[in-house]
Amino acid sequence: MESIIINGKNKLEGSVSISGAKNAVLPIMAAALIPKGVSIISNVPDLKDTRTMVKLLEEVGAKVVFNNNILTIDSINAHNPEASYELVKTMRASFYVLGPLISRFGKVKVSLPGGCAWGPRPVDYHLKGLEELGAKITLDEGYIMAESEKLIGSEIEFDFPSVGATGNLIMASVYVSGKTIIKNAAKEPEIVQLCEYLVKMGANIEGAGTKQVIIRGVKKLQAADITVIPDRIEAGTFLIAGAIMGDITIKNVNPNHLTLVIRYLRAVGSEVEIKNNQISIKKSNKIKPINIETNVYPGFPTDLQAQWVSLMVLADGNSSIVDNVYKDRFSHVPELSRLGANLKVENNKILIHGVKKLKGAKVMSTDIRASASLIIAGLAASGKTNISRVYHIDRGYENIEQKFRGLGAKINRENN
Ligand code: EPU
Repeated sequence: MESIIINGKNKLEGSVSISGAKNAVLPIMAAALIPKGVSIISNVPDLKDTRTMVKLLEEVGAKVVFNNNILTIDSINAHNPEASYELVKTMRASFYVLGPLISRFGKVKVSLPGGCAWGPRPVDYHLKGLEELGAKITLDEGYIMAESEKLIGSEIEFDFPSVGATGNLIMASVYVSGKTIIKNAAKEPEIVQLCEYLVKMGANIEGAGTKQVIIRGVKKLQAADITVIPDRIEAGTFLIAGAIMGDITIKNVNPNHLTLVIRYLRAVGSEVEIKNNQISIKKSNKIKPINIETNVYPGFPTDLQAQWVSLMVLADGNSSIVDNVYKDRFSHVPELSRLGANLKVENNKILIHGVKKLKGAKVMSTDIRASASLIIAGLAASGKTNISRVYHIDRGYENIEQKFRGLGAKINRENN
C-alpha cells in the first residue's frame, strides 16, 4: 500500500499550474456517447476517475485514446447501454451515463451506486426526473433499468439543485419531443460547460448557469471538441495551502469561479492578487478566524470544506463551518485531530478552536477532499506525517506531490 510522507513546515514558494476540472470532464466524457462520431477533449486531467470513465466508455463500446491530457472518444460503434456494478461502485459519477445512454439507445441499465465514505448519496432526483420525461424505470438485482422509445419534454423541479441530476436530465432531454424545463437547476461552472459542449454538438439549451434550464429537443447531435475548464477545487486547495505557508502563484485558473473563496481568503488576512488567469497568494502572520457555510454555486463549495478546516485549525481564535450540501462529510475531523487540531462536530457544523501548531502523525485518508485537507495540515505540521490509503487522492488530484514539491514542499510517496 502506498503512503504519502510529508516533512512539514517548509515555506511554499513559486508557481503551480492547475489541471482541467474533474467534475467537468466526467459528464463531458459521458456526453460524448450521445452522438455517433469522434470527439476530442483537451486539458483532461489524468486521474483515477478519468481512467475509470474511460473504462466505462469502453464497456459501452466506444474506442478511447488518452494521451498527453487529450482524449479522443470514438463513439460510432457504441452498442452496450450498460454500466456495471464493478465500475459504478468505484466511482459514483459513472451514473452520469444514465442520461446519455437513454438519449442514444432509448434504454439504459446502470448499477445503483451504493453509499460512500460520508453516508448515503441518493439518486432519487435523477430517477424521478427521467420518469417525468416518460421513461419506465425498474430496479432489478441492484441495477436501474430505464426505457423509453421517445422521451417527452416535461417540467422537472428539484427540491435541491443537484449537480448530477441537472447534468443527467439535460443529457436525457437533448432529443425529447417538445421541451424540458428544469427548475431549481444546479448553476455550477461544470454544468455550464457541459451545456456549452452539448450546444456545440447541436443541442438547444437555454439558461445554463441560471436556476431554470430549458432544453428543446433536436433531431440529431454531432460529435464536437472541447477544452476542459480549470479545476476550481484544485485551485482552491492550493490557495488554502498558500494562505497557511505560502507566497505562491496559481496559474491556468479562472478567478471568476473562485470569487467567494478569494473573498474569504482575504477576510482571514491573506494577500490575494488576481491577474488574468493567475492568482497570487501571500500568507499573513496571523490567520483570522471566520465563520462560514458551504452552499451550492456561487456559494462556498462543499468540495473545499475539509481543506478550509485545515486553515481554520491554525487560526488565532474560534471559528466554525457549516456544510449545507453534505450534512455529514466530516471524516477528516478525527484524522486532523491526530495532528493536534481541536475540533468538534455538532450536527452539520464543525466548531474549530484554533491551535498554535500541529505535529506530524500517522493519519488515514478517507475520501478525495479529506485527503487534500490532511496534505495541507501535514505540510503545516512540524515533523513527519504519514498519510495512508492515498488512492483516494489520486481520484481527484493530478500529480499532487510533484506540484507541491515544485513549490518547495518535502512530500513523497512510499510503498509500505
Ligand atoms: N441529492 C439527493 N437526491 C439526488 C441527488 C442529490 O437528495 O438524487 C442531494 C445529495 O444527497 C446532496 C445534494 O443533493 O445532499 C447535492 O448533491 P449533488 O447531486 O449536487 O452531488 P453530485 O452530483 O453527486 C457533485 C460532485 C461532487 C460535489 C457535489 C456538490 C461530480 C462528479 N461530483 O456530486 O464532487 O461534492 O456535486 O457540489 O461532479 C468531489 O469532487 O470530491 C465530489 C464529491
